[in-house]
Amino acid sequence: MAGTGYDRQAAEDYRAAREVPRDGLDAWRAAVAEAVPLAPGMTLLDVGAGTGAFADAFHAWFGVTVLAVEPAEAMRALIPASAAIHALDGRAEALPVPDGCADAAWLGSVLHHIGDLAAAARELRRALKPGAPVLIRNAFPGRCDRDLRVRFFPETARTIDGYLGVDQVCAVFAEAGFARVGLHSLPQQSAPTLRAFADGLRRDADSKLRALDDDAYARGLARLRAAADADPEEPAVSWMDLLVLA
Ligand SMILES: C[S@@+](CC[C@H](N)C(=O)[O-])C[C@H]1O[C@@H](n2cnc3c(N)ncnc32)[C@H](O)[C@@H]1O
Repeated sequence: MAGTGYDRQAAEDYRAAREVPRDGLDAWRAAVAEAVPLAPGMTLLDVGAGTGAFADAFHAWFGVTVLAVEPAEAMRALIPASAAIHALDGRAEALPVPDGCADAAWLGSVLHHIGDLAAAARELRRALKPGAPVLIRNAFPGRCDRDLRVRFFPETARTIDGYLGVDQVCAVFAEAGFARVGLHSLPQQSAPTLRAFADGLRRDADSKLRALDDDAYARGLARLRAAADADPEEPAVSWMDLLVLA
């Protein structure tokens, strides 16, 4: 599908550079388990599934079937499809799934890609069973200081400042019948150490880093290298929000 901006190289770069190692996501697994009792026999709708890292994680963690909806063909091709993980061509605004089919929905770093969020919220209301939650993992304006990129490349916050805020997202979803249940700031370990994180950074694979000019990028990299030298053991921990609506 056109217009997603991911060709084959971009999809492979995304998988190599942006996927968080599974064992760095323990806090996310625990927070999801707290929000919704997912179990074998249940269905998770992964909207904007990308290369399927979370689709695969949800199946491994909870034994659920995953409907992974992804518009970019090159990203979709990398989803580890199986009897339990179905890779579907589609968009949040027109989900290719039946009414009332899912026990929860997951939107990972996708809110700001969705052109018509109100339509997406209505579609989620249609696709979810009554009472089933929408789990949104995203950076939000004013809440991203502990994102590793923002910590070392503070100019990246400008991109996040352009995203919808938590209250705005809640207002859009309220129109479709969802209420705010919880908002949790959660850690993920992106790499074993800051040095490993710096070594694995791929400016071209990250739109927030790509948006920086060369000087800002060089300053940020120098800050990151200095912090890694100052504490070679510091793990590369980054924080994002989990917004739960139901
Ligand atoms: C930053 S990636 C996140 C992928 C994955 N959820 C993750 O956390 O690794 C955003 C994804 O949203 C997809 N996307 C773009 N527009 C979309 C839309 N309108 N509906 C659903 N997904 C969309 C993109 O193709 C891309 O794969």
